[in-house]
Amino acid sequence: MDFDFENRIVAPEFSSSEDNDIEISLRPKVLGEYIGQDKVKENLSIYIEAARRRNEPLDHVLLYGPPGLGKTTLAGIIANEMGVNFRVTSGPAIEKPGDLAALLTNLNEGDVLFIDEIHRLSRAVEEVLYPAMEDNVLDIIIGKGPSARSIRLDLHKFTLVGATTRAGQLSAPLRDRFGMLLRLEMYTPEQLSSIVNRSAGILGIDIDPEGALEIASRSRGTPRIANRLLKRARDFAQVMCEGEITKEASSLALDRMEIDELGLDSIDRLILKTMIKNYNGGPVGLETIAAAIGEEAVTIEDVYEPYLMQVGFLSRTPRGRTVTPAGYAHLGMTMPGQQRLDV
Ligand code: ADE
Repeated sequence: MDFDFENRIVAPEFSSSEDNDIEISLRPKVLGEYIGQDKVKENLSIYIEAARRRNEPLDHVLLYGPPGLGKTTLAGIIANEMGVNFRVTSGPAIEKPGDLAALLTNLNEGDVLFIDEIHRLSRAVEEVLYPAMEDNVLDIIIGKGPSARSIRLDLHKFTLVGATTRAGQLSAPLRDRFGMLLRLEMYTPEQLSSIVNRSAGILGIDIDPEGALEIASRSRGTPRIANRLLKRARDFAQVMCEGEITKEASSLALDRMEIDELGLDSIDRLILKTMIKNYNGGPVGLETIAAAIGEEAVTIEDVYEPYLMQVGFLSRTPRGRTVTPAGYAHLGMTMPGQQRLDV
């Protein structure tokens, strides 16, 4: 069987520009419309209200957590609630210090600059960011060699919202310059069900509550996946059922896509099965798993593992990754050493 790593329906990243466009139309614009992440929302609403009352820009915010949980959406909401412009970029897109300087000098007072994948900024770019975040100044070097000199430009006060899937990879000086560190968590099936119902309303899709919950429970805690599965379930409902997304229609669609009751797809199952068959269920190193299935180690760590750990099928130990008893049970496999207990 071939595994298509590139076109995974449950990939938490964007899969196409159509996907991206639809997601943008579904994004809530205010905190009150944003479902879930209650702790983050409560704190954020207080900080926003306080900054507004003082008539000051919001302090810099770092959002972290697995992909697809709504970090960009939340950053947009922050800008909207503060009534300022929203500028979006990403760590890999800012190649040189000059690229960042161009972005910073174009910001107005209070604007939100959103840097996705901020852990991927180069050291040289980070160095420009520090004084900008701390003192709203830009130190630039003009000229080369002995005649080089540094000049300091004043910037408008701005809010940096950084997003990362890996807070641990951020350098300490950068992390320390954020006033708020907010961790986004995976959504419960009930929260995802509300998101699916809201999206269906906006897109004019006919769905019943059980159909929404079925999609939600197989969306691995991630709104972006839930919205994508909603669109696929609509196709199945239109062609094979009466049009409405019922529990039957969504089950049918998800079974066809090989997404099981817990939202695992064939690649998740491949990871677990490979660990069991080749390495006795672990402990086995991340690099070894990566080589065995032909995927990059960072992708396994950022994209696949968070959900496998969330459902309790995989654990990270100091000696490597292991498949848990629940992981074996989900695949209908017996753990070594447990066979004898059953007889
Ligand atoms: N769409 C994506 N994420 C959402 C969220 N947290 N609340 C409402 N709609 C969303």
